Amino acid sequence: MAVAIFLIFLAIILIYLLQKRPTKYPPGPRKWPIVGTLPSMKKQPGDSPFDLTERLRKKYGDVVGLFLGPQPAVFINGYKCVKEISNMTEFAYRPNILTPRHEMFQEKRIGVFFSEGERWRNQRRFTLRHLRDFGFGRRTMDQYIQEEFNVLVAEVEKFAAENPGQQETGLNLMDLLPAVAINTLWYIIAGVKHDLHDENFHHLTKCVLKFFRLGDQNSPVNFYRVLQHVPVINRVYQEQRRCAEELNNFVMREIRAHKKNFNKSNVKDFIDIYLKEMQQDTTGFFTDEQLTTICVDLFLAGTETTASTIGFTLRYLIKYPHIQEKVRQEIFGVVGKHKAISMEDMPNLPYCTAVLTESLRHSGVTPFPPPKAPKEDTFFNGYLIPKRTMVMVNLRSVLMDEEYWGDPENFRPERFIGPDGNFQRDERLFLFGTGVRMCLGEPFARNTTFIFYTSLVQKFEMAIPPHGPKPSDETLPGFTTSPAHFKISFTKL
Ligand code: HEM
Repeated sequence: MAVAIFLIFLAIILIYLLQKRPTKYPPGPRKWPIVGTLPSMKKQPGDSPFDLTERLRKKYGDVVGLFLGPQPAVFINGYKCVKEISNMTEFAYRPNILTPRHEMFQEKRIGVFFSEGERWRNQRRFTLRHLRDFGFGRRTMDQYIQEEFNVLVAEVEKFAAENPGQQETGLNLMDLLPAVAINTLWYIIAGVKHDLHDENFHHLTKCVLKFFRLGDQNSPVNFYRVLQHVPVINRVYQEQRRCAEELNNFVMREIRAHKKNFNKSNVKDFIDIYLKEMQQDTTGFFTDEQLTTICVDLFLAGTETTASTIGFTLRYLIKYPHIQEKVRQEIFGVVGKHKAISMEDMPNLPYCTAVLTESLRHSGVTPFPPPKAPKEDTFFNGYLIPKRTMVMVNLRSVLMDEEYWGDPENFRPERFIGPDGNFQRDERLFLFGTGVRMCLGEPFARNTTFIFYTSLVQKFEMAIPPHGPKPSDETLPGFTTSPAHFKISFTKL
């Protein structure tokens, strides 16, 4: 009897300790032993990818303390907190979660996304500097983007010629956009462009999209490692792993080919310049593994985000034909009907710029960027954030803030046109994140999405196909968001 009472007493103490929140930890739902706050984080039927986070913020405020099973996680909302934490170098680290992409590299903190401290600073700086040397974000880049755009136009025209009924039923451009998007970037990285009909390349881009769509930062499989080996439960994890492995093998093949033909007096692309640096490196940061991981990171980061941004923008344009027409009239007035659009035209195309900006704001392609973490216990906003806590920044809470934007749910590009008719920036436009870990690909992404979407409007009238499925407003969840597939009817102008 005494033993039983003792065991019950012990169990009560254990349960109490397991559900106790650390002192000064941010407020949040009740913490349960083993599962943490997960029971309070269930999605409800009909929830959009953002409803749960909205509910949590409304109830607990801008800094919410969660436990994804054993993993402490803090959720940051609102302009002030998002800006402040993103600027703090103390939070420029990554949590101890195990994603398939991470596991593939034996959990080493390498590449750009997962590296930290001096290695991250060094590799990020090098990557950015040399991508720029090869045209990234510069005027020379326009030419690569235009070439790829011409390939896309040829595809659309071929499809129209082969399918006389396409104007009635429409074409799904979302099948082509990822390959087109990565081709432009991959030319700078590896000096090669792939045929859009190359089966292997097409399969690879599909794999990357799948990797993003299956992504779930809150999945228990990321925190309970044992679940990664449990059949059925580990299905998504294993699928993501297969995709990551395919991409890894593709990149390693490319690097091997570069090594075979390497000539240090004739560096042609980013891989060549990295191989050259490896020969003279004294820091120890420039390794084969690091090069592979950077290329994988750039491929992953550059394919889906760029394609989804163009996709969302086209969806708005067919949904709101008067906006499409206004974009076209501005292009015809400034650039004309035939001259190729370049980034030099951007300052003279304020409405076109406003439409792309509003598309990025309204769609929120990356509502929750890769989680950050403090390396040591750190105070933020009066709360104690234990070391390696997963810090999830809610960019959408800034981009859709009702108090600030007034009507954030409305797609209204005019909000970015100033009284003088020029494009008006806004300090709250964290479209590519903000602070020390801000997107490395922003200049490239802006140029590519701008030239692609405006050039399509210049060449085609795009509409909802009269006899095809109507585009839904659905936003697909994942590591990023994407428009549900939809079809467009193209009429050559
Ligand atoms: C429209 C397209 C894109 C959007 C909306 C986007 C958005 C973002 C966001 C929100 C972040 C996280 C920033 C933060 O944590 O504050 C990020 C990080 C990053 N992005 Fe992009 N991105 C896009 C395209 C690209 C492209 C084309 C590349 C590659 C060339 C790229 C490479 C990266 C990398 C490497 C990081 C991690 C930076 C670091 O950890 O230091 N992104 N991006």
